[in-house]
Amino acid sequence: MARINTSYQKLKAGYLFPEIGRRVSKFVADNPTAKVIRLGIGDVTEALPPAIVAAWQQGVAEMGTRSTFRGYGPEQGYDFLREAIAKHDFASRGVRVDADEIFVSDGSKCDTGNILEIFGDDNKVAIVDPVYPVYVDTNVMAGRTGPSNEQGRYEGLVYIPATAENGFVPELPKERVDLIYLCYPNNPTGMVATREQLTRWVEYAKKNDAIILFDAAYEAYITDPTIPHSIYEIDGARDVAIEFRSFSKTAGFTGVRCAFTVVPKSVTAAGLGGERIPLHGLWNRRHTTKFNGVSYPVQRAAEAIYSPEGKKQVQTLIDFYLTNARLIREGLQAAGVKVYGGVNAPYVWVKTPGSQTSWEFFDRLLQTAHLVGTPGSGFGASGEGYFRLSAFNSRENVEEAVRRFQKVVS
Ligand code: MLT
Repeated sequence: MARINTSYQKLKAGYLFPEIGRRVSKFVADNPTAKVIRLGIGDVTEALPPAIVAAWQQGVAEMGTRSTFRGYGPEQGYDFLREAIAKHDFASRGVRVDADEIFVSDGSKCDTGNILEIFGDDNKVAIVDPVYPVYVDTNVMAGRTGPSNEQGRYEGLVYIPATAENGFVPELPKERVDLIYLCYPNNPTGMVATREQLTRWVEYAKKNDAIILFDAAYEAYITDPTIPHSIYEIDGARDVAIEFRSFSKTAGFTGVRCAFTVVPKSVTAAGLGGERIPLHGLWNRRHTTKFNGVSYPVQRAAEAIYSPEGKKQVQTLIDFYLTNARLIREGLQAAGVKVYGGVNAPYVWVKTPGSQTSWEFFDRLLQTAHLVGTPGSGFGASGEGYFRLSAFNSRENVEEAVRRFQKVVS
């Protein structure tokens, strides 16, 4: 008898965004003339910058000519892209990341889930609450948790609340943990961690022989020059942290698919007999066994993000979404709603007005204003009573969404 991985039976009904999609599809089917504005999933809406499109097309043209055609590329990514990343994302900030410590992939969602394969099942995992649901669900799928309780928290995970009281940067865990997921600028709260706060986490990891899994998918949205873009800006982080980066939100690549993970050669964890094993070799083994690389034209498109004109065009795109975030923030504040984030991130974290739960507010907004956001409780128990709005949409839709939101809460 074939058996399923019964850990999947512990998962809650559906992944958050498909569940939202299901409710919205039903609403649209019942109300076919409603003009629904979607500020739910953080999916980009604006066209790719021309420098990126041109590089992609050039890559396709090379694939269509025998003399420049390429078959399998290096699983870890082409040198031209890894070198551009090392130079522009890290060296330019005085951070040492070598090109061969960079693993190009098709997404940070995949990488943050797949990374668990190189860690033992008995690691104690700390999860900030609220959190990007992928970190939790992939741990459940991998069998690292018990069942969930009525709040949706899984036995075996250590939840560390990020609340308004602690500025959405949680305290260090009270018990010893081995793996810690951190995401800054944060999804879903849109808040950032200061250098001092990140330094405390790196010190904790060093002291407790723990590894930080640092998701920096939104670093391009940082506007405050004092906020670190990379965990490696913190002394000692090269020994204790793996960093995930993505071109999805940086350059409009959600439908293109290209990201990368940094595994410094100096990060180690314990082997069977307690000996130190570099994680770089393990991840390289995993990556080359299970992944055949990102397509050549897409890597050329990603390389163009770092060209002089690519940089300018990408910055224009980011500024556009950041202006959307500001309009949402200011529009909601003007209506007397408490909001967080949206200054160094494309997400605005909204306190739900009155005593409505996140899902009640979701339904109210959808039914009365035809507006879609993301219920905070979908990101964890501490997200209850909050609502996330994404700044990824056209200016026209964002302005209209703000007007509709103001009407609902007035
Ligand atoms: C989100 O809305 O949280 C993100 O778009 C999801 C993702 O990046 O996978």
